[in-house]
Amino acid sequence: MRVGILTGGGDCPGLNAVIRAVVKVGARRFGHEHVGILRGWKGLIEADAEPLTPGDVSGILARGGTILKSSRTNPFRDDDATQAALDGFARLGIDALVAIGGEDTLGAANRLHAEHGVPVVGVPKTIDNDLSGTDFTFGFDTAVQIATEAIDRLHTTAESHDRVMVVEVMGRHAGWIALYSGIAGGADYILIPEKKPDIDGLLSAINQRHARDLDYSIVVVSEGVDLGDAGGQGELDEFGHARLAQQGVGDRLGVVIREATGYDTRVTVLGHIQRGGSPSARDRVLATRFGTRAAEMVQEGLYGRMAALRGDTVADVPLAEAVGTLKTVPPAFYDLATPFFG
Ligand code: F6P
Repeated sequence: MRVGILTGGGDCPGLNAVIRAVVKVGARRFGHEHVGILRGWKGLIEADAEPLTPGDVSGILARGGTILKSSRTNPFRDDDATQAALDGFARLGIDALVAIGGEDTLGAANRLHAEHGVPVVGVPKTIDNDLSGTDFTFGFDTAVQIATEAIDRLHTTAESHDRVMVVEVMGRHAGWIALYSGIAGGADYILIPEKKPDIDGLLSAINQRHARDLDYSIVVVSEGVDLGDAGGQGELDEFGHARLAQQGVGDRLGVVIREATGYDTRVTVLGHIQRGGSPSARDRVLATRFGTRAAEMVQEGLYGRMAALRGDTVADVPLAEAVGTLKTVPPAFYDLATPFFG
């Protein structure tokens, strides 16, 4: 069998570990051949690919990013793009496709399978951890580790200067990174997109600390939080999503805090630092398990499905289940953090 592999959407640590596992397990256990499709769906549309052997994927386990490159190209942006993607599949002479991506990439994979019969297996990737059907996506653990370390570092300088530090982390629709890193880093307040911002609650948490002679505070905010004074939608990508890191909820929140309290306030936007660099050990293992399962699914003909973590088992679920609704933070999980505010 000849298997195509692509990585789509925002990159994240662990993509290379998945590619390595798909290729090594597929070749060694099942005799599969592989081609790496470059730049996500763009590469399928343009039939832009190169052979991938076990030798080619040696030494990439610990490397961040993706050796196949990525893009946010949408094969369903118009009929011509969809037809070109179907033609690309035929031109590359592949029998199956492993698509590694988040909601947009897997949404397109689901449609290619459901509407056009393309034999696709999905692997869930996103630092945001907001894909349904799987308990965790790889990349999330690394991003949380990076954000937590940043919060730890900001704590010491905040204390030295009696400052409020606002830390903006990624999380377009879901506050998983903010919540995990905020809890792990002992944040004094956390704002997530799932919960309407309570600015009075935030200001009172900061003021309570000052009343106790704790003249510094750490506020963690997800980039997707809607402060209600957005000032325009800004640039959109091909899937219609705002490019959030350029719209600065952290900066706006910093102004709100500074103006309301008079406290010296600084803002740190972690941005793409959370997506770069080497994956954590946990993400390397999860990515290897997902890649291994994807190779097995190809061998077993389990198309239109996605490798998924359920408890401590790697199973497979319909792609439709993964892309139907986003996995957002349940209110009870947020409530776990609130006793530590202020
Ligand atoms: O979807 C993952 C993500 O990291 C979001 O948290 C963030 O909004 C987005 O990607 C940024 O993507 P880009 O690479 O287009 O700046």
